[in-house]
Amino acid sequence: MDALDLLLNRSSQPRLQEPAPKGEVLENIMQAALRAPDHACLTPWRFVVCTGQGLDRLGDIYQQAAKIAGKPKEDIDRAVQLPQRAPMVIVAICQYSEHPKVPRVEQIASTACAVQAMQMTALAQGFGGVWRTGGYAFDEHVKQAFSMKENDELVGFLYLGTPMTKPLAKPQRDSETFFEHWS
Ligand SMILES: Cc1cc2nc3c(=O)[nH]c(=O)nc-3n(C[C@H](O)[C@H](O)[C@H](O)COP(=O)(O)O)c2cc1C
Repeated sequence: MDALDLLLNRSSQPRLQEPAPKGEVLENIMQAALRAPDHACLTPWRFVVCTGQGLDRLGDIYQQAAKIAGKPKEDIDRAVQLPQRAPMVIVAICQYSEHPKVPRVEQIASTACAVQAMQMTALAQGFGGVWRTGGYAFDEHVKQAFSMKENDELVGFLYLGTPMTKPLAKPQRDSETFFEHWS
């Protein structure tokens, strides 16, 4: 896929099935994350690639979080199914460290760039993905399960797999709505 075509037409793929990226394809996805812009080379990223029983483990963590939060039975039952919406989920965590020139927001932004880079690299290799958060990304039990410190941030769950459908064509946005030009 041409780089410009990818950039201009990127689209999320919420409906995903087996197979998940693996081997060199997965390595490319991981390497792209590690090329994210990173002020002062802090490498504030940590990623957990979940497949197979790893997805069950993630579902168990969600379910436990739902129980602790006193959610209704319906939500508790559903929690365990959430990670099963794709054959792979990459958990992207920003591990914040204090730095005089790099505030927390920049370290989170760097991790977000890594998520976008992974989605793009999946697309470029014929796979699809969708970036999700939802309440579990901000849940204390989930944070503990990933051994996150207080100022770390769970930036997203990147669901990856083989697209089941073609993405819907999206209306073009007008650049003038969002860009002004100072010249
Ligand atoms: C930080 C972040 C969190 C998101 N969380 C969710 C989510 O929990 N559920 C969801 O359906 N979409 C979520 N999205 C939006 C999708 O990833 C996607 O961008 C959106 O459905 C629009 O589709 P598109 O990427 O093809 O334009 C999130 C996006 C970002 C950047």
